[in-house]
Amino acid sequence: MEIYSVGNKLRIGLFGKSHAESIGCYIDGLPLGMEIDADGIARAMDLRRPKGGIGTPRREKDEVILEEGVIDGKVAGRVLIRIMNRNKDSSAYDGFNVTPRPGHADLPALIKFEGFEVAGGAQFSGRMTAPLVAAGAIAQQYLAAKGIRIAAYSKQIADVIDTEERTFEEMEASRSRKTRAADDALDARMEEAILKASADGDSVGGIVGCMAIGLPIGFGGIWFDALDVSVARMMFSIPAVKGVEFGKGFGLASMRGSESNDQYAVKDGRISALSNNMGGVCGGMSDGMPLTFSVAFKPTPSISKPQRTVNLREMRDDTVEIKGRHDPCIVPRAAAVVEAMAAIAIMDQDLSFQSDQ
Ligand SMILES: Cc1cc2nc3c(=O)[nH]c(=O)nc-3n(C[C@H](O)[C@H](O)[C@H](O)COP(=O)(O)O)c2cc1C
Repeated sequence: MEIYSVGNKLRIGLFGKSHAESIGCYIDGLPLGMEIDADGIARAMDLRRPKGGIGTPRREKDEVILEEGVIDGKVAGRVLIRIMNRNKDSSAYDGFNVTPRPGHADLPALIKFEGFEVAGGAQFSGRMTAPLVAAGAIAQQYLAAKGIRIAAYSKQIADVIDTEERTFEEMEASRSRKTRAADDALDARMEEAILKASADGDSVGGIVGCMAIGLPIGFGGIWFDALDVSVARMMFSIPAVKGVEFGKGFGLASMRGSESNDQYAVKDGRISALSNNMGGVCGGMSDGMPLTFSVAFKPTPSISKPQRTVNLREMRDDTVEIKGRHDPCIVPRAAAVVEAMAAIAIMDQDLSFQSDQ
């Protein structure tokens, strides 16, 4: 069984495939005796679940089994999280072994790995993020005890853009909405954009905004282990992510230093910045401001409109029509994944580089 691993002191090992018996992950490095709130894990899983008409019709219960390493609700060693794949239908994928789907991993994987079977997207499926959300929920519990909280929301879906500077509380409240937009009017417009694309046999992309609060000044590693490096690595590991920016990100390129620098002041005896253009990170460490970043997701590659592809058996041009069960937009579900992956990165940074460890 292949295991894909990441992390320094908190090590995550991801395994399984979309249509295997199960998927899951190992978590090494959780503090022994740490209490695990199973309801908190279930709540996080619920936020990743597809909603109404705007998510994939593949419905999975996603019951998280803490198979090893947890005794009486407390961490007793390496934790093994397993989630069964119950709702599998590989028939819709057979053809993609011959006519790979544009935008998905089919073509490179079929060329690279002998005997590769596309079924459900295999290890490239968005479903692989389910155990990561469970692991992230545990990391969020660890961080919450230290006053560090993380929330993500839909900042943009298709051409519907939330232009407001959102507070942490607004982002957190957006979790209960269908698209995770931060208010009702945007939620409705984002949902409409997704449904319209879906009705056209098409898909849309968008941007997830994320904020972590409670990081003290100096939090994080430096250079290759920097806070932003570590968060960006986890973000780019999420399938369909094509861009990550911290603070004003690419917008900084057209600013002057006098506009972009976050100047400092002392307020109530504490050092604070007067703006947050850098997204809370300087020199790879927290500058004490909220860590804010945006993650761009491409439109879901599997669309039902006919598309040009190649026929690998006959080595000729061909077309492909996709009939499987797919999300017309990944963004609303992906916000839960962004939160989880950020939590894993930040917990690893905490265990690895904070002096009280
Ligand atoms: C939560 C989530 C759900 C996804 N659902 C789908 C889906 O239903 N159909 C699909 O084609 N891709 C889906 N994807 C995206 C693909 O897994 C991804 O585009 C593919 O593995 C190729 O990788 P890349 O886009 O990072 O290059 C999903 C991704 C995530 C994070």
